[in-house]
Amino acid sequence: MVFTTESLSDAHRRKWGGSSADVKVYRAPGRVNLMGEHTDYTEGFVLPIALDLACYVTRSKNASGELRVVSENNGQERRWPTSALPVVQPMHDWSDYIVGIAKELFRAGYPVEPANLRVHSTVPIGAGLSSSAAIEVATALALLDGRSIPDIELIQLCRRAENRFVGMPCGVMDQYVCVKAGAGSMLEIDCRTLESHAAPWPEEVAILAVNSMVRHELGQGAYRTRVAECAEARDLLGVRALRDATLDQADTLHGELRRRTRHIVSENARVHDFLAAGSPAERGELFYASHASLRDDYAVSCPELDSLVEIARGIEGVYGARMTGGGFGGCTVNLVDPAAIPEFEAKVRQDYLAAYGVVPGIYRCMPSAGAARQV
Ligand code: GLA
Repeated sequence: MVFTTESLSDAHRRKWGGSSADVKVYRAPGRVNLMGEHTDYTEGFVLPIALDLACYVTRSKNASGELRVVSENNGQERRWPTSALPVVQPMHDWSDYIVGIAKELFRAGYPVEPANLRVHSTVPIGAGLSSSAAIEVATALALLDGRSIPDIELIQLCRRAENRFVGMPCGVMDQYVCVKAGAGSMLEIDCRTLESHAAPWPEEVAILAVNSMVRHELGQGAYRTRVAECAEARDLLGVRALRDATLDQADTLHGELRRRTRHIVSENARVHDFLAAGSPAERGELFYASHASLRDDYAVSCPELDSLVEIARGIEGVYGARMTGGGFGGCTVNLVDPAAIPEFEAKVRQDYLAAYGVVPGIYRCMPSAGAARQV
């Protein structure tokens, strides 16, 4: 669902008062990653698109000396004197994203002015579609309120807020695509050089995300463990990052570290193969190979995601399916012939319901533009 500036501004004024000229609207999208999973924190390659699902943060000034925020998603409200923001401690809830961004803005020399914010996100939470980066980037833009900042600084600042204050050791992919994506295209990001390259998405293939409705809790352990395993493998191999390893080198390692390294090396290659692929069928095969690697070598899938991939595989007109994002729940991403979408939706709903007693969420993903003020 896409909100108009007017409806967002009206909702803001119903809560905080003021005139429509006082309210500014900022939008930052969620994302779905097409290829390159868990490669960003090994200085590798990723290939996400931004979604039309987004977080909207509206902003007006106030004279209270406070930063005041209301979340439309859960009805909660928080207030902090702006002077106290640098010493606020994490609450382990949604407000950590707001405070984390405020702190990083202070550190970077962009002091936060008293303001009223209203947050309304249409990115499902915990579904692996990067609701976190969306709220971080939309909040940063709202708190900057027109002060200019280089894209890369904004991206790094938002990632630091998540690493340091929220406590999730994520890579740079989500914040990067949220800021830099272009409508109609996928974005190949080199997570070492932080350079990127947009490639047009072929209109004859539809991208559908299917939500397993298993909420992933990335901060809790497994993601951190994978980051640590990659660092250990890197040190054992004596390379700058696992991005520099080869399959032969991976095979000199043992057990889990061998499998983790195999995933990183093969997944980076799949990003380039995906970009070079000539047909939807070839791209689809790379999707299935990526899923197998994430399931067997990287061990970040779960039975529900595996089942969604197998259901998709049996439907005519589906080119490929794989889990997307951090894993342990969240979504699969599917490449589908547009003519097969009704059949896909019906079959996925029916078979997943029969297997798990849960109706999956299904979202048609339109490659959308990155974050900006919405006028
Ligand atoms: C999460 C992280 C990203 C990335 C993905 C896996 O979304 O925030 O940095 O590591 O998992 O590809």
